[in-house]
Amino acid sequence: MPERPYVIDQMISAKSIAARIEELCEEIATEFEGTNKLVVVGLLRGSFVFIADLVRELELPVEVDFLEASSYGNSMESSREVRILKDIRGEIEGRDVLVVEDIVDTGHTLTHVVHILESRKPARLKTIALLDKPSRREADIRADWIGFSIPDEFVVGYGIDFAQRNRNLPYIGKVRFTE
Ligand code: IMP
Ligand code: MG
Repeated sequence: MPERPYVIDQMISAKSIAARIEELCEEIATEFEGTNKLVVVGLLRGSFVFIADLVRELELPVEVDFLEASSYGNSMESSREVRILKDIRGEIEGRDVLVVEDIVDTGHTLTHVVHILESRKPARLKTIALLDKPSRREADIRADWIGFSIPDEFVVGYGIDFAQRNRNLPYIGKVRFTE
């Protein structure tokens, strides 16, 4: 199927993202003050840019781990069935955990991931999402920290893709089809 042509309109600038991450990191550092065991778990692949900026701004001792859950594939529609494609490497029992997601859309992915990680008995488990699309929610979940709440638009950039493209844009933009 030939790709439908589209353009990307900037929605959130790189500068706004950086400023928001500074604010979020102050709150996170306060929440986890004194921890010597925070494991920051990035959900692949969309959170890889966000987690990189987040941990460099966070003034806490951290370990970084990754988990991959099944996602959209190449479509723009979310699936209710979430599978773990790649599990974290480390043990989290008794440890502080921060799950880092790119976008909470229907909420099924984050709900499933939190459920699995909670069953491993971490001391504390918190979640952060760069973007939140509350109008799309199907599962009853909200990230503990949210970078930006956005309307129901399909977005790309800053790690987030459309059919694996545009992850390398330094800003968040929305996809607008031109035909
Ligand atoms: P959920 O399970 O519906 O909450 O889906 C979350 C996942 O869908 C996110 O981690 C993203 O990978 C993907 N996703 C949701 N909205 C968008 C979007 O606007 N652009 C690209 N990917 C998205
Ligand atoms: Mg994702």
